[in-house]
Amino acid sequence: MADTGVSTESLGAGLKDIYRGKKLRVAIIGCGGICATQMQSLRQLPQVEVVAGADIHQWRLDALRESFGVTELFTDYRRMLAKVKPDAVTVCTPNGVHAPATIASLNAGAHVITEKPMAMTPQECQRMIDAARKNKRKLAVGFQYRFHPSTQMLRRARDEGQFGKVMFVKCQALRRRGIPNWGVFGQKKLQGGGPMIDIGVHVLEMAHYLMGSPKPVAASGRTWTYMGDKPSDVVSQWPGWDHKTYTVEDLAVGHIRFADGAVLQIESSFAAHIEKDVWNFTLVGDQGGCTWDPATIFTDRAGTMINATPAYLPRGDFQTLFDLKLEHFVDAVLYDKPLEAPGEAGLAIQKIIDGIYRSSSAGREVLIK
Ligand SMILES: NC(=O)c1ccc[n+]([C@@H]2O[C@H](COP(=O)([O-])OP(=O)(O)OC[C@H]3O[C@@H](n4cnc5c(N)ncnc54)[C@H](O)[C@@H]3O)[C@@H](O)[C@H]2O)c1
Repeated sequence: MADTGVSTESLGAGLKDIYRGKKLRVAIIGCGGICATQMQSLRQLPQVEVVAGADIHQWRLDALRESFGVTELFTDYRRMLAKVKPDAVTVCTPNGVHAPATIASLNAGAHVITEKPMAMTPQECQRMIDAARKNKRKLAVGFQYRFHPSTQMLRRARDEGQFGKVMFVKCQALRRRGIPNWGVFGQKKLQGGGPMIDIGVHVLEMAHYLMGSPKPVAASGRTWTYMGDKPSDVVSQWPGWDHKTYTVEDLAVGHIRFADGAVLQIESSFAAHIEKDVWNFTLVGDQGGCTWDPATIFTDRAGTMINATPAYLPRGDFQTLFDLKLEHFVDAVLYDKPLEAPGEAGLAIQKIIDGIYRSSSAGREVLIK
C-alpha cells in the first residue's frame, strides 16, 4: 500500500492506513464493458487507488486512460503483475481468462475479485481456490445480486425461519431476444457456454444463497441452439451479433436436486419465443414462500393467506450493486473480514451449471460430486 501522509491514532489497523493516506492499490485485468462499471464504483472509494490496467487490446487501454486517468497500462497481465505488484486485482476478462488471470494474480501476492461466472468449469474454480489458500489471499466472486436489497431482505426472512423448510425454487433468467453483440459471449471455448453460464448464473446464485447454500447432488438439463447461429433481420435491442462464431446455446433448462431434499428448476435464454424478459425466482417452503421481483413474502397469518411487501427498500440498480460488491471486497481485504461470495460459493454454482451442461450432453441425469 502506498503511503501519502495524514495520520490518526486509536483506529483499527485498516482504518489507520486509510487515514494515513495508505490506499489499497488495485489493478484491473480486462478493460472492456464491465471494467467501466467497476471503475465508476472504484473511483468513489477514497481507500482505493486504481494503479494499473491490462488488456490484450491497446485501444481498450487507451480508453481506460482517457476515461479514468489510469496511466500504468499493459498488454500482458503477467508483466503488469510483476512490475506493479498490486495489493488487489479485479478480473474482468471473458470467462476463459478468469482462472489463469486469477491464479497468476494470487501467486503474485494480490487479493482477487473475479467477475461472474467464477470460471468456465468446476476444475478451474478449484484451482483458483487452491491458489488463494496456498498464497493466503482472499478470493471473491463478483456475485453482486446477493447485495441487492430484495435478496438481503428475503435472506433475513429465511434466517428468521419465515419460510420453514425450503422445498422448491424456480429460477428464470430469460431474454426474449438479447444475444450479446459485443465481446465473445457467443463462443463456447472462450466463455464455457451461453445464457445459463452468463445470466442464469445471476439468478441461480441469488436463489442458492437464499436457500442457505445447500449441496447440489444431481442435475438434469437440456440446451438448444436454434437462433444465435443464424443471421436475423428481426428488430431487437442488440442486433447484428456474430452468428458465424456462435457456438453456445440459445435456451437452457435445468433441474437440480440438493442433499437436503430441495429441488431447484432454472430456465435461461438469450433468445426465446416468450412474452417478455423475466429475471426472477420463486421460493416455496413449508411455512412460507417468496418471489424476488417484486420482493414479496407469502405466508399464513391471523387465519388468512398474506402477501407481505416491504414498505421501503434501498436502491438496487446495477451501478449501486457494483458499488456495494466492490466496497465489500475492499473492506474485506483491508480489515480481513469474511467475504459474502468467496471462491467456494462460486464453485458450488459452477458445479450446478456444469451439471446442467453435462446432463444435456449425456441425455440423462448426472451426479454432482
Ligand atoms: N457482474 C455482472 O453483472 C456482469 C455484467 C457484464 C459482464 N460481466 C462479466 O465480465 C466479464 C467481461 O465482460 P464484458 O462485458 O466486460 O466483456 P468485454 O468483451 O466488453 O470486455 C472483456 C475485455 O477483456 C479483454 N481481454 C480478453 N482476453 C484478455 C487477456 N488474456 N488479458 C487481458 N484482457 C483480456 C478484452 O480485450 C476486453 O477488453 C465476463 O466474465 C462477464 O461475464 C459481469
